Amino acid sequence: MTTTLRKLNTYYIRTYGCQMNELDTEIMVGQLKARGLQACDDETKADLLIFNTCSIRDLAERKVMGKLGQLGNLGRIKNRRAVIGITGCMANAKKEGLFRKLPHVDFVLGTNNIGDLNHVLDEVVQTGRQLVMTDDEFSENLNYLQTHREDKVKAFVSIIRGCDKHCTYCVVPYTRGPEVSRPPESIIEECRHLVSQGYKEITLLGQNVNSYGKDKPEWTCLFHDLLYKLDQIPGLERVRYMTSHPIDISRELMEATRDLRTLCEFVHFPIQSGSDRILRKMHRIYKKEQYLEKVAMLKEIVPNVALGTDMIVGFPTETDEEFEETYKVMEDIEYAFAFLFAYSPRKGTPSMRWKDDIPEDVKNQRLQRLIGLQNEITAKQLADMLGQEVEVLVEKLNRSDRGHNILKSRTRCWRKVIFPGEPSMIGTLQRVKIHSFSNQTLIGELVQKNSLVLQH
Ligand code: SAH
Ligand code: SF4
Ligand code: F3S
Repeated sequence: MTTTLRKLNTYYIRTYGCQMNELDTEIMVGQLKARGLQACDDETKADLLIFNTCSIRDLAERKVMGKLGQLGNLGRIKNRRAVIGITGCMANAKKEGLFRKLPHVDFVLGTNNIGDLNHVLDEVVQTGRQLVMTDDEFSENLNYLQTHREDKVKAFVSIIRGCDKHCTYCVVPYTRGPEVSRPPESIIEECRHLVSQGYKEITLLGQNVNSYGKDKPEWTCLFHDLLYKLDQIPGLERVRYMTSHPIDISRELMEATRDLRTLCEFVHFPIQSGSDRILRKMHRIYKKEQYLEKVAMLKEIVPNVALGTDMIVGFPTETDEEFEETYKVMEDIEYAFAFLFAYSPRKGTPSMRWKDDIPEDVKNQRLQRLIGLQNEITAKQLADMLGQEVEVLVEKLNRSDRGHNILKSRTRCWRKVIFPGEPSMIGTLQRVKIHSFSNQTLIGELVQKNSLVLQH
């Protein structure tokens, strides 16, 4: 609306939300670079501003709305007539409604349309009209090999988009649409390409990676089949995935975790609540007992596995006793990582039919108790690692202090480890002996330097 015919030379892109959004940003940046645009760190100077947004909780949306409202008031940007676009989950959740609150926005491009970015930009620049494109379902049109990544050691790779699970609190099935798996050949091609460029670790992304392939039975390639294929890629050191739904964590996946060279022994196994009544209301489609049986099976098959979870406290009608059940599950399982959230009602989700009846202070007290418990568990687990030798993949220079370099790395179970070393070790596997820890970070010393990536 505010644009006139002009050439776009620079872009500024800001990403909110999950890894899926981070990857979508990298895919969009690849397209912008192919178009000849260059990055600009200053939002008041760039010709094109993109906000890749998140709708998961109210706070996530408020952050973006605040930021965009502020931009509208920035006369400088208005006068310069920068093109402003909103992409990501809020684009699908709010569509043209965004123009009412933010009249200075030029285009709204949904999560299933990032491949159309350059067409949309052409149209906006030529016509000066506001444009909305938000398909309900993803159809494959992305040039993955164009993706522009800043990280040179580890990369995200999309394997499935959308979610069919419909947990009652969650906006994702509405902002990303139904599950659509990506052809295995395309995934393997991208992973091979990444390894040829020196990448050592790949995180396979999807809202529910372990439903991979179920929508395309003719491919006869389920999630674990894909993992076996990727394990064959020479030079690929580590494979991770985010995220998984407990109901689809199969025995085959557990065995793959035990047997595959590349697959890391870390499983995100989000229970969300320890109460069967709340789980039913959340439509998580498993009971606590079934979940605990699966965890027991996994621990038996992969004794050194580390587990992660997500938890929601203060779901409508959650009683103190039901919250205590959640607390007890966390106490019993001792997760390595827990992402803890207070329930936030989302427009358009089934749980909106119930009153958000747990007062904020109660939600907060419950959240703080879980945070306190997880901190204790983490401290205990890290203390148990003192004196151990671990294999780490060196990711980057953590800091450099008067010629003294500290490297940042991670274990296979995703623990962060820092240790003194040389920048030439970035991208290599090393052995480190842990001597202390601080908060969530392990601190150690190199055992012996590997100049080459370890061969298995
Ligand atoms: N697909 C992933 C989750 C994506 S959202 C999975 O199922 O594991 C990440 C987490 O945000 C969820 O696991 C849930 O714990 C939390 N979450 C989602 N919707 C929420 C809401 N309305 N309020 C609070 N937390 C929410
Ligand atoms: Fe949301 Fe549930 Fe799908 Fe995860 S599995 S994205 S929580 S609906
Ligand atoms: Fe947010 Fe969408 Fe991810 S709602 S958490 S950006 S899938």
